[in-house]
Amino acid sequence: MDKKRLFNISWEDFSELNLPEKAQYLNHNRRPFHVLMAQQFDREMLDEMGSLATRIRRIAKSKAGMGFLGSLLNHKRAMLYFTQPSSRTFLSFYAACQILGLTTGEVRDASTSSEMKGESREDSVRTFSSYFDLLIMRTQIEGFVERMSWLLTNTERPVPIVNAGSARDQHPTQALLDVYTLQRSFERTGGIDGKRIAFVGDLARGRTVRSLAYLLTNYGNVKQYFVAPHQLQVTQDILDQLDSAGVEYEIASDFESIIPEVDAIYMTRIQDEWDKTPGESRAIDVSDFYFTADHLKLLRHSAVIMHPLPRREEIAVEVDSDPRAVYWRQVRNGMWIRAALIATLFRLDDEIRKYYELNMR
Ligand code: CP
Repeated sequence: MDKKRLFNISWEDFSELNLPEKAQYLNHNRRPFHVLMAQQFDREMLDEMGSLATRIRRIAKSKAGMGFLGSLLNHKRAMLYFTQPSSRTFLSFYAACQILGLTTGEVRDASTSSEMKGESREDSVRTFSSYFDLLIMRTQIEGFVERMSWLLTNTERPVPIVNAGSARDQHPTQALLDVYTLQRSFERTGGIDGKRIAFVGDLARGRTVRSLAYLLTNYGNVKQYFVAPHQLQVTQDILDQLDSAGVEYEIASDFESIIPEVDAIYMTRIQDEWDKTPGESRAIDVSDFYFTADHLKLLRHSAVIMHPLPRREEIAVEVDSDPRAVYWRQVRNGMWIRAALIATLFRLDDEIRKYYELNMR
């Protein structure tokens, strides 16, 4: 029987599949080839990715370790194609590539590419695949990373694509770094299983929430809370996924009553770049969904406050110095987990584990 590969299915048939079905075409032998969605990752893969990130982080502490890591992919090149603004995702992928020795190229503004001469986006990306071995893409166009993954797989240069943030769809590598941060935060308190995690803010338009809510279905007895004004509440597609995974959740609007109940609070900003009419978001009062310094008194001693960033006013700056605020740690974890992901894509995970066993034990 034909394996589930993108060269064995038409674009029309692939685009009709649901997300878990699509995910089967994106992994090869339980290893991601393209990285487009959270549905590609199961519990074992998340555990392995986290442990690999920790090994890379420890190896990178020494000059000899950095020499080893930097030699792994110094024969490969990665293209960073970011046509939506980004600080953390762009720079952490850039740094992750540097750690592993990959040379990088970048387009951050389509107005500097031949798209301005009328070239299609598809042809632009195909051009990148002629020069690079890995494409890392952020795009405002829904479904574009899927389309390009199918298209490139059906050329003579089937270069892997990593989704670094796709429209309102998904941001799978953000979710990987969020899970890694949760793994590390709950290392001494039984791990992620059984924890209560609240998503707060703009849950209707946040792609990080969609990806993380799904990744958390890999853990046992995790209860998810969705805390937002009704206009920005979580969308039915996310709830459908939780229902089919049998995950307990609660929809709430009283933020203060949820704070003492949970082990992690995942704050998000208002995503007004997706407003359909000018000023639409400004008309919604979100001030009851800000985490203030006073809220620290309500928060459990062992709980953590997270945020994918960038933030606006939804977390008071005074909160940053509280040990439970882990959002700056999240930023750095992004570099390690993305290095682990790239190493996995290039099948270098075993080599890194062997180096760690021989030199770091
Ligand atoms: N969290 C995140 O995606 O940040 P950037 O938009 O700065 O990449």
